[in-house]
This record gives sequence, C-alpha cells and structure tokens, in this order.
Amino acid sequence: MSSNGSGLDRREFFRHSVGMGAGALALGRLPADLGGRVRGAHGVPLIITSHTNETGQNAMREAWEILDSGGSALDAVEKGANVIEVDPEDSSVGYGGLPNEDGVVQLDASIMDGRTYNAGSVASLENIKTPASVARLVMERTDHVMLVGKGALDFARSFGFEENNLLTAKSREAWLRWRERRGESDDWGPPDHLRDRGGNQTGFLDGPDEFHYGTTNVLAVDENGDIAGITTTSGLSWKINGRIGDSPVIGAGLYVDNEVGAAGATGRGEDVIKSCASYYIVMRMRDGRSPQQACEDALEMIVNKYRAISNDFIPSEKFVAINKDGEYGCARMRGRGAARITFRNEDGLEAYEGTQRYQVSG
Ligand code: GLY
Repeated sequence: MSSNGSGLDRREFFRHSVGMGAGALALGRLPADLGGRVRGAHGVPLIITSHTNETGQNAMREAWEILDSGGSALDAVEKGANVIEVDPEDSSVGYGGLPNEDGVVQLDASIMDGRTYNAGSVASLENIKTPASVARLVMERTDHVMLVGKGALDFARSFGFEENNLLTAKSREAWLRWRERRGESDDWGPPDHLRDRGGNQTGFLDGPDEFHYGTTNVLAVDENGDIAGITTTSGLSWKINGRIGDSPVIGAGLYVDNEVGAAGATGRGEDVIKSCASYYIVMRMRDGRSPQQACEDALEMIVNKYRAISNDFIPSEKFVAINKDGEYGCARMRGRGAARITFRNEDGLEAYEGTQRYQVSG
C-alpha cells in the first residue's frame, strides 16, 4: 500500500528531497550539478504539472497514456488539465474553484501550441468546468486569441459545452466564511450586539480561512519534439468581479516556443502580467539557461523590480519550465509553499523539488 494513497511509494514519488537544491542528489539517482536534467534519451516525451497532489498525479498518469502511444503534446496537456479542472475537491482550478467576491466562480485559461505558434485563451468564463478545452477551441476554430466573460460563455455554448454551477458546497462555505469575516464595516455576520461578547453568544461561521492564487500549469514535449502548454485557474480567491489574472495572458501565465521550451506561472497574477514572466523564462532558455536557472532568473527579476520600490514586498510566484530536451525546472518564493512539480516520463511518475528563493517577510 502506498503511503500517499496514489499507488506510488512515497520514497519513489519524492525522488528529489525537500530542502536540497534543484536537481540535488536524492536516493542516489542524479548528480547534484545536473540542475534538473533528466537522463539522456529518457528526457522526451515528458509532461509536467505544477500540481503535486493526488489529482496532479492522476492527471500525469492519464496524460502520459497519450504521449506514450505517440500522441501529441497538445492532446496530452489538454487531458492533464481537464483531469484537474473537473476535480470538485480542488479549490484552485475549474469546478469547485474559490469564487470572486460575489460568490461567482470565474475561470481563466490559456493554451499554446509550439508546433503552430498558435494560442487561445478564455477569461472570466463562468459555468464551464473545462476552460482549457474552450481555450483550445478559441485557438483552433477562430482567428482570435482571447475571449472574455459572456462572449467566452456564448462561444462555449455554441460548441455544446454543458453548463454547471461551478460553486460546490465546499467552495460556497469558504466564500460565506470569508464574507462574514472580511471586515467590521459591513452587515454580514452575527448581529453586532452578539459578536464575540463572551459567554455563549453567536460567533462568525466556523472553519478555516482560505485564500489563494491557486492555478495549475501543464507543459509537455512529445516524441516528435513538439511542445505545448496550458495554464488554467479559478484565479485569485475573492477577486473583484471581472478581474483577470495572468493565466489567460499569453506571455504572462504561459508561453511556448517549439525551438526552445515552455514556461508557466502560478501566484499573484498582477506581478506575472507586468513582468511577462513566462515569455521571459522561455527567452532565458533560448539564451542557454536551463529551465531551472530560467525560473530562478524570473523570480530574481520580479523581486528586484519590487525591491526598488518597496523593500518589504515579496511577491508570491512559482514558475515551472521545460525545454525541448526534456529538462525541467521550478522555482518559488521561500515561505509560499514547496517549489515542486509532478512529472511523468519514461522513467515513471515522479516529483521534482526545485529551489525556493528570497524570504517572504512576516
Ligand atoms: N495566477 C493566478 C491569478 O493570479 O489569478
């Protein structure tokens, strides 16, 4: 029985151990200076996701079947993204994602096909569980790149996508808690004279405070060397109605270049949009940097921009990247969670621990 309930032994899964540098030796498999490089001919095909939970692992298993049977990177990334999008337990992507401040789930997604230099995206899309597939249709069946809001929904409807309320009971409860607790200056929550006055008075709704920019990236290179990527998200929780993050913005939340590789971002989309971070990472790889180094370069670039303005502000990004040789990398701000990806190649399903840089204050 696996310890993580995934059919995969924990020791096997976390081949690269937490706290060691990117590509560091773990379980005696890879020399420390490889910087995340996969073994020679086993580099390609490759698929990665920034999701490291059981759903992320399942996504890689299902997507790998496509790559393993000679399918395209584009089909594989769509399959992988869809597995994560339809999981109602995942509160950061697709169905069950945390909603905006009005309690409405608005999804952003993008897709890019390195083979054709084509891209598509949707933003503020409501009621559709698989925005990545709608983005693919924007890419393949229109001469546009981005559709937004009602236009994106009308477009999805025209292709027969089923509409659903994306707010699950779990994400609704999280939103109701947030609405009651967000401040003193509104009328949500228990009556004022009963608020936390001691004794057995009525309190605010019980449960954890949740907040995130959660997103997933899925990047792949197939056996022909073609590269594709998807970034899909429910975006910043409790965002202002209509706010669009980096995920659907080509060059920000996602970029793919068949001659080089692919990159994707999670974290505070506002930082990623302003820095065109995914494009920056791919351009760094074009200049000879490894995926790992290029992800670290992007973190450094963003931190330096903010440090010049406000020394206290440290952004929250996590970057992932692959190159056409099947190398991969991941870097994240320290204190914002693990710099980890799940990947699948001919060697099996594994986790990779990249680097955490900079210190989040507070
Ligand atoms: N990176 C996801 C968002 O900011 O919406």
